[in-house]
Amino acid sequence: MPVVISSIAHFVPPDIFTNAYFEDKIDTNDEWIQTRTGIKERRFQVSGELSDMLLPAVEQCLNERGIGPEEIDCVIVATITPDNSFPSASATLQHKAGMTNAWGYDLSAACSGFLYALMSGVGLIDSGTCKKVLVCGGDKMSSILNFNDRTTCILFGDGCGVALLEKTDDASVGIQDSILKMDGNGGQYLYMSDHGDGAKAPFEDYPDEIKQQYVIQDGQSVFKSAVVGMADVSAEIMERNNLTSQDISWLVPHQANLRIIDATARRMGLDSSKVIVNIDKFGNTTAGTIPICLSELHHQGKLNYGDKVILASFGAGFTWGSILLTWGIKK
Ligand code: UT7
Repeated sequence: MPVVISSIAHFVPPDIFTNAYFEDKIDTNDEWIQTRTGIKERRFQVSGELSDMLLPAVEQCLNERGIGPEEIDCVIVATITPDNSFPSASATLQHKAGMTNAWGYDLSAACSGFLYALMSGVGLIDSGTCKKVLVCGGDKMSSILNFNDRTTCILFGDGCGVALLEKTDDASVGIQDSILKMDGNGGQYLYMSDHGDGAKAPFEDYPDEIKQQYVIQDGQSVFKSAVVGMADVSAEIMERNNLTSQDISWLVPHQANLRIIDATARRMGLDSSKVIVNIDKFGNTTAGTIPICLSELHHQGKLNYGDKVILASFGAGFTWGSILLTWGIKK
């Protein structure tokens, strides 16, 4: 019996910050940001923490499946911005959402966190350890951004998504294949050394100097690896499952840069109409991008039962990967 995503939801904070917001604060402009990244605006959580974003997404996800929080066996939170270094984001969320029978853990894989967590959840169900696993991905990136650093602060946003995993007796749907990769040599190009109180910080922070407890990125180096890495795994998962671009209904890529997304779609031979892009609205929400995209697609009624979907990510670590699934929620 395959493991399927049986419900999905997302949450983004209500406060919208357009590119113009940065123009009078740092040396940047809307034209540069849109041309180089595809971003027009993003959401920042002006008060509250990661768990405050995750909670409404969890509640919606469980409501739509028609089950209570006590039915969850395990909750995995993929994030690099937990409310606290410890207790874990999963423990905090377990308590807030009333998942009284769940154990759980956090998973740190930056932008690939949701894919890593999804496959961890599949493993727990396949092994018989759990029946219902809640897989969450999200970040409050505003808490670890240096708003003086124009090369990073314009890229990111806050938001999260939550997917419920369980078995289905329909063998034609579910999570079918995955390729997950890591190369720690990439750590020097995208990192944050010292978490400190990072996730407690307000969304705006203008330190006098660039400190290590903020996102530090060598954009070009990451860009070059991301273009190759995300395209490679996406093409590879198609090839080894004997799929052509005709067979794929949707590519749901990590939203770091529109140019990286376009390169991946080109390599897969996919028409842009099959590629999910919301970076213009939300920027890069790190572990949140892929579940937010999937949830939007589902709630817009565009995902059909039986659709073949490829999820693809690239991020800090480096970590990257792709997952092939057949959508299994009936409208
Ligand atoms: O999700 C995690 C994984 N992360 C990624 O996948 C991100 C990968 N990298 C990127 O998306 C791109 O490298 C960036 C969007 C970060 C940067 O775009 P780029 O085309 O690689 O620009 P660049 O770093 O080569 O910078 C070009 C110029 C530089 O000026 P000079 O040296 O040519 O005079 C930068 O200083 O643009 C300048 N610049 C800016 N100008 C206006 C850098 N940031 C800005 C800015 N506004 N915000």
